[in-house]
Amino acid sequence: MIVVASTNGLTGIQESMNVLLSGGSAVDAVEAGIRIVEADPEEHSVGYGGYPNVLGQVELDAGIMDGTGLSAGSVGAMRGYTHAISVARQVMEKLPHVFLVSEGAERFAGEIGFQRRDLLTDAARTVWQQRLPRDPSGEVASDLAGRNDVWKLVEIATDPERTQGTVNFLAQDAAGNICAGVSTSGWAWKYPGRLGDSPIIGAGLYADSRFGAAACTGMGEMAIRAATAHSVVIYLKMGATLGEAGRRAMADLDDLGGRYLAQMSFIAIDGDGNHAGFSNGEDGTYIAMTAEMDEPEELARTHVPTKARWGM
Ligand code: GLY
Repeated sequence: MIVVASTNGLTGIQESMNVLLSGGSAVDAVEAGIRIVEADPEEHSVGYGGYPNVLGQVELDAGIMDGTGLSAGSVGAMRGYTHAISVARQVMEKLPHVFLVSEGAERFAGEIGFQRRDLLTDAARTVWQQRLPRDPSGEVASDLAGRNDVWKLVEIATDPERTQGTVNFLAQDAAGNICAGVSTSGWAWKYPGRLGDSPIIGAGLYADSRFGAAACTGMGEMAIRAATAHSVVIYLKMGATLGEAGRRAMADLDDLGGRYLAQMSFIAIDGDGNHAGFSNGEDGTYIAMTAEMDEPEELARTHVPTKARWGM
């Protein structure tokens, strides 16, 4: 049994392992770990306390995939519910659908009994206001909701160095089943309605219990364009080692053109429970915990450089 997570999953990884140790499934373990991160107001890239979109609205994306049977559920651009990962799981388990967005996801969350909550904390609101473009008098841009040029502000307000984040969990249970889960408030100051990779099966997450799983953080548009999480698992399915599969999926990102290329990272496991992390940024880490360990270990991600450019 093993749980692997992005480093910001530290608050949840012990609980995730506890679920496995008490006989829970990989899906139970992933959901339990991510819920703790989603509830933490100090984590500004996930759940309650997450940074908002350019209009100051917190919109959550999450996805979960059960690698046994390839079941999946996702929610995107969902406001007002902390535990996007649990709503995504309920989409997977209760509906004949895979993906709900916006008002539909919120309606479903309410119908099945999740409690509404204002997700924008004072701390996140303050940073959002500080990061908004200012006019020459130094005033923060006003009446954003009434403007018809908000799209221009997104590039200015968005700073690849400071606005990314997401939590990833991968778990393999005692029966060998693998689950991948991802939850995020997305790219801070994003355009309203923007979906990142986190709820998109094959982009931000993929799991197949026979071969392995992967989950991404960073600039989701890149993972969507390269189908990164699915690529890792397909390379494993084709016989690559975990190290080869991760390097090849990172190298695929270097084929992307365009003006918006930034940091991308992912964690991965294979069907034997071997794990690794990869990033095009230096000094990245991830965490892992097996049933035999008293506490998780923090490990270096393999650095695979890819080109970066922003708005040029
Ligand atoms: N990887 C998270 C996002 O782009 O929203």
